[in-house]
Amino acid sequence: MKFIGDKIAIGDVPVEQIAAQFGTPTYVYDEAKIRSNIRRVYSAFSKHYPDFKMFYAVKACNNPAIVNILRQEGAGVDAASVNEILLAKHVGLGGEDVMFSGNFLSDDDIKQGLASGVIFNLDDISILPRLLKFGKPEMLSFRVNPGYGKSNVGEYVTNAGPNAKFGIHPDKVMDAYRMAKEAGIKRFGAHMMTGSCITDAEYFPFVTGLLMDIIGKTAQTLGIDFEFIDLGGGLGIPYRPDEPGLDLDKAAELTAEMFRKKSAEYGMKPPQLKMEPARYFVGNAGYIIGKVHSIKESYKKIAGTDIGMNTLARPAMYGSYHHIFVDGKENEPRKTIGLCGQLCENTDFWVKERELPASLTEGDLVVVENAGAYGFGMSYQYNGRLRPAEVLVNGSDIQLIRERETFDDMIRHTTVPERLKN
Ligand SMILES: Cc1ncc(COP(=O)(O)O)c(C=O)c1O
Repeated sequence: MKFIGDKIAIGDVPVEQIAAQFGTPTYVYDEAKIRSNIRRVYSAFSKHYPDFKMFYAVKACNNPAIVNILRQEGAGVDAASVNEILLAKHVGLGGEDVMFSGNFLSDDDIKQGLASGVIFNLDDISILPRLLKFGKPEMLSFRVNPGYGKSNVGEYVTNAGPNAKFGIHPDKVMDAYRMAKEAGIKRFGAHMMTGSCITDAEYFPFVTGLLMDIIGKTAQTLGIDFEFIDLGGGLGIPYRPDEPGLDLDKAAELTAEMFRKKSAEYGMKPPQLKMEPARYFVGNAGYIIGKVHSIKESYKKIAGTDIGMNTLARPAMYGSYHHIFVDGKENEPRKTIGLCGQLCENTDFWVKERELPASLTEGDLVVVENAGAYGFGMSYQYNGRLRPAEVLVNGSDIQLIRERETFDDMIRHTTVPERLKN
């Protein structure tokens, strides 16, 4: 995003043009930024550990155009469901370029996951006997909960530790791999996903050490060569303008050092180091453009926008902060203003108080930063407010990559029994 005078552009395209061409609210992604984000991660980690492979956790933004950009940059896909495996296949990925990390899987999930031929990453030992009933994957990984997790998003997004629903308990890891080995599975990996939006570089080597102690002992005891170890995602981005960002080079250097040290300590053949970030790739490359539709002077000044918790759920769901700019008004005097969406829910008051341009009024365009991850993917249709359009900007080029929903989309797949029609 950049300013041309007091007007805002994404890539080289003015937001005014985007709003006029595609309407509001609209998600906008900056292709150049996605590419530079993933290249930064690749070069930071591969410099210190050349056998490094990245997956993109498509849950963060599942538009096939975005997944294709990341595929072109060399990323595989981390899939949380069978449909996300199908999405990976839709963009031409499969086999060992896709990792299936669903949790609390149904029998159907297991059968379809096996048939898809991707890497299975099991969330618990209890799923293994059910998996073996349906088939035997060539390669197997377990998601380990090493007993510690951390989140800058809030308690609800702490993905590991005693209160998390994810991952296998460390005490059961040895038994899980033993059972898999005895069942004839030959190739193994290991996985964890402990942190969300972490900007503390020291965190990554710390959790890597925890995982490597668990996996190192398992490797030694069972005589297993782990082909890969996946450290998950969690690379953080700053959401507030004054928030320090992650020192990626330091995180990569210390993590690779720990990884190498622990592999040597346990006599492991050095495994491939994998990571599966999402927020770091797409978070700051995505924006939402919305419009102010009405202003209310009540107990306080509230501006009603067509962005709400249905369009961007994170503020209502996690209390998350997203920085906001007002097109053409950023240099004006400020006043405390609240922003709400158009839903019949008070949690839709998504910015309770913020110093915004005092003259904010009907027709103004607001641009929400850091909306590329967990933005569109978490949007929904409540109150008949339909999902926004998505567009991709590449320099001065702009293309629609998902149409705005219509009323037909709202009633698609519904049926009214004949007896109710008279
Ligand atoms: C299994 C798994 N891997 C990777 C990610 C991506 O995490 P992040 O966006 O923090 O990098 C997630 C996010 O929830 C996840 O559940």
